[in-house]
Amino acid sequence: MCGIVGAVAERNVVEILLEGLKRLEYRGYDSAGVALLQNDGTLTRIRRTGKVQELADAVAEGAALGSTGIAHTRWATHGGVTEANAHPHFSTERVAVVHNGIIENYVNLKAQLKEKGYTFTSDTDTETIAHTVHEELKAGKPLLDAVQSAVKTFHGAYGTVIMDKEDPSRVVVARSGSPLVIGLGLGENFIASDQMALLPVTRRFIFLEEGDVAEITRRDVKIFDKDGNAVEREIIESNIEHDAGDKAGYRHYMLKEIHEQPTVVRNALKDRIDENGLTVDVFGQGADEIFKKVQHVQIIACGTSYHAGMTARYWLEQYANISCNVEIASEFRYRKSVVHPNSLLITISQSGETADTLAALRLAKELGYMSSLTICNVQGSSLVRESDLAFMTRAGAEIGVASTKAFTTQLAAFLMLTLALGKENGMTETDSKAIISALHSLPAKLEETLAITGGIEDLAEEFADKNHSLFLGRGDQYPIAMEGALKLKEISYIHAEAYASGELKHGPLALIDDEMPVIVVAPNNELLEKLKSNVEEVRARGGIMYVFADKDAAFAGDETMRVIDVPHCEAAIAPIIYTLPLQLLSYYVALIKGTDVDQPRNLAKSVTVE
Ligand code: F6R
Repeated sequence: MCGIVGAVAERNVVEILLEGLKRLEYRGYDSAGVALLQNDGTLTRIRRTGKVQELADAVAEGAALGSTGIAHTRWATHGGVTEANAHPHFSTERVAVVHNGIIENYVNLKAQLKEKGYTFTSDTDTETIAHTVHEELKAGKPLLDAVQSAVKTFHGAYGTVIMDKEDPSRVVVARSGSPLVIGLGLGENFIASDQMALLPVTRRFIFLEEGDVAEITRRDVKIFDKDGNAVEREIIESNIEHDAGDKAGYRHYMLKEIHEQPTVVRNALKDRIDENGLTVDVFGQGADEIFKKVQHVQIIACGTSYHAGMTARYWLEQYANISCNVEIASEFRYRKSVVHPNSLLITISQSGETADTLAALRLAKELGYMSSLTICNVQGSSLVRESDLAFMTRAGAEIGVASTKAFTTQLAAFLMLTLALGKENGMTETDSKAIISALHSLPAKLEETLAITGGIEDLAEEFADKNHSLFLGRGDQYPIAMEGALKLKEISYIHAEAYASGELKHGPLALIDDEMPVIVVAPNNELLEKLKSNVEEVRARGGIMYVFADKDAAFAGDETMRVIDVPHCEAAIAPIIYTLPLQLLSYYVALIKGTDVDQPRNLAKSVTVE
C-alpha cells in the first residue's frame, strides 16, 4: 500500500528518498512523488504515475536538490491514478504533505476549507490535511502546534509527514492508524512508513504509537502523545538483513521466497524445540501461566494469514483438545460476538500492520478476552507492541506481495502452539511425540518437496490458458486448497475457488467440464478414501484433474487425471508440505501468462487501510 519516506539532513537527500521509495515498491503502488526544500527556501515537487524509476528519471533530469524532503508511493483510494492525485500535496506552495490512510471526514473538511477560500487541485482526501495545516500556520503557529491542532479535526487513519516552506529545518509527522517509524542518523534523521525504506541509512528506529505527533530536525526528535505530553519512546536496533531487498539470482522475489522456506522454517524452530518438546517461554514471558487458564481460542486474521488460522483450528481441536474459532478480521470487528470464558485471542499477520486485524485486536481488548497473542513476522510492528504475547515467525523480509514463506512459518508456529496448549489439555503422548518428530523433519521435507519443481512447470503449461479452476481438499488440507486458490488468483488472475471436497455434490459439481481444471491435494491420511470418492465424482462428469498426492496414496493417472507425487510426510506437517507445490503451480502459471508476479495488479503488501 502507500509508502512514505522523509529526511532532514545537511546533505542532499534526493538519493535517500528515491532509494527508500524503491525499497517500498514491493508494497504496491501506482504513482510516486517527491517534494524537496532547499535552505534558500525553494520548494520543488516532482510527481509521476507509474514506477519509481520514472520519477527518478524525472528528478535526475530536473537536477532537483534539497536537504529536507518527503516522498511517497501512492496506492489510489480517493481519486484515480493521475499525476494531480499523486502525493506530495501542497497548500498554496507553502505546505507539502504526504499521507497514508484515509481521512474519512474529508468531504466536510473540504467544504469548510473551500468556504475559507482554498482551491483543491486533486480528488484526494489528503489535500485537506495540507490546507488544514496551512490554515493553522496562517494563525501564526509553529509547524508542530499547527499539526497538533489540525489532527484534532481528522477522523480516519493517517500516517502523515508535513513540511513548511518557511521552516526548512524540520518535518512534523503524525500517526493514527497508519504506521510510521523514525530512523535515527548522525546529524540527520528520517521518517518512513516501513523500516525497510531506511535500512541503507540507519538501523536505529523509534516506532511511533497511536496518536503520536513528532517533530524531526537534523539533531533532534521530539515526540508527543495523543494528549500533547512530551514522551520518550524506545529506540530499537533493527536486525533485518541488509540484503533482504536482493533477489539472490532468482527471477522474482516470490520464487526466492518459495525456495527460502526450508531455511526460514529451520530458523523459526531454532532454540524453540528440542527432542523433548518446546523449550520454555517460547511464546513470551508469562505465556505458560496464561496457557494453563486458556479454555478457548479465537483466531483473527486476513487473507493468507487467515488460512493459517483455519489450518490451526484443525490442529488445536484434534491434538490439543481445545475449542477454537477462526474469523476474518473485517467481519469480526463489525459484528457483535460472544466471548467464551478464558478465551485467548490470537492474531496472525505477516506485516503486523493490517488495519482490520489491528482493529480486531483493539476491539477484543474492550470485549474482555483473557489475553492476546500475535503470531507475526515484523518486530516492532503495531500488533506485536499491542498484544500481551508475541511469537516472531522469523521468516525475514517478505517482498513478493503474494505471501509464501510467511505462511509456512505461521503454520510451524501454530504446531508449536498446539504442543504448548496441548500440554495443558491432555494431549496424548503419542500425538505430542508425533508432532515433535514431524517438526524436526520439516525443513528437510520442505527441501525434498521443492525438488519436484520440474513436473509442476509442465503442468502449468496445460493450465495457463484456462479461465477458471477449482481446488479441493479435506480436513486440514481444505485451508491449503483455499490458500492454493488464493495464490493462483492473485498472481495469474485466473479465477480459482476452493471447496472442501465433501461439499462438491452440494453445488459445485455443476461447474465441472473439461475447461475447468480441478486441483486436488491428497496426502495419505484417514480421509484419503473419502477424497478418492470425490475424485471419482469429478471424473464421472468429464473433469480434468491434477492431483498432488502422497506416493503411497495409489492414485492411477490417466488422460483425465495427472498425478504429481509429493514426498511422504508425517500427518501433522502435511498441510505445510502440500502448500509448496501449489505455490509453485501459481508461480509458473503466472510466468507463462506474463503477469507482474511480485507486484500483482491492484494488490498491496501491507494493507494499512480498511
Ligand atoms: C496473500 C496475502 C494477503 C495477506 C493479507 C494479510 O498472498 O499476502 O492475503 O495475507 O493481506 O496480511 P498480513 O498477514 O500482513 O496481516
